[in-house]
Amino acid sequence: MTIQSPLIIAHRGAAGEAPENTLAAFQLAVEQGCHAIELDVHLSKDGEVIVCHDATVNRTTDGIGTIHDMTVEQLKTLDAGRWFDEKYEGERLPLLSEVFDLVPRHIMINVEIKGSYNRQLEPALIRLMQEYNRVDTVVISSFDHKSLLFAKLIEPMAKIGLLYDVNAVRHAALADLLGTNVYSLHPNFKRIDKAEVQDAISQGLQVYPYTLNDEKRMKQAIEYGVSGIITDFPARLRALLASPQA
Ligand code: G3P
Ligand code: MG
Repeated sequence: MTIQSPLIIAHRGAAGEAPENTLAAFQLAVEQGCHAIELDVHLSKDGEVIVCHDATVNRTTDGIGTIHDMTVEQLKTLDAGRWFDEKYEGERLPLLSEVFDLVPRHIMINVEIKGSYNRQLEPALIRLMQEYNRVDTVVISSFDHKSLLFAKLIEPMAKIGLLYDVNAVRHAALADLLGTNVYSLHPNFKRIDKAEVQDAISQGLQVYPYTLNDEKRMKQAIEYGVSGIITDFPARLRALLASPQA
């Protein structure tokens, strides 16, 4: 089996060096040469797809509140950069549409559904992917596998990826559970071994483990033959992949 160089997937953008899930973090990741960007989404009170990891704005902005209870107008008043470093003051919580506008189309976007809120988010997400001609360059992932099935039902061409954090399963068997339409597996790297990775890849699945930030684990994942590595430090992974021993 030929081992391909893994995709560099920037976790929440270049989240190790810029405020996570902001346009600044995505821009930096693109400049650092990532192949893909992972980000997390919630739905606002007025039905817009908002990029943020947590269900509340409390940790990553200067505000307090739950995203699903706030309108875009309210969310856009918040500062989403200063908590990380004052040089990022003025960053805002992005709409997914703003990320689609910013990130070149050849860069894959892994949209992780966090809060689907009674299945209201999936139709809004698919609508945006269609409107922005991103159906083929987005992979939708979630720990909520029913959410993925629903997205696939709305848009059969959508690529879906199973996120999971469990031990002692045959990982490719998880994809079997959902049928043959699963594009990728997104396991916690701590839970997998080389045989599992090779098994999944031989069944035609992409394997994108999260979240690998140190060189030792990145090298281990490369040796396993993973299809992509989700990292907060895309530049670090890029340098490693360019080094002769990688
Ligand atoms: O998508 C991989 C990873 O982001 C899953 O965990 O909590 O960082 O969203 P979390
Ligand atoms: Mg995530």
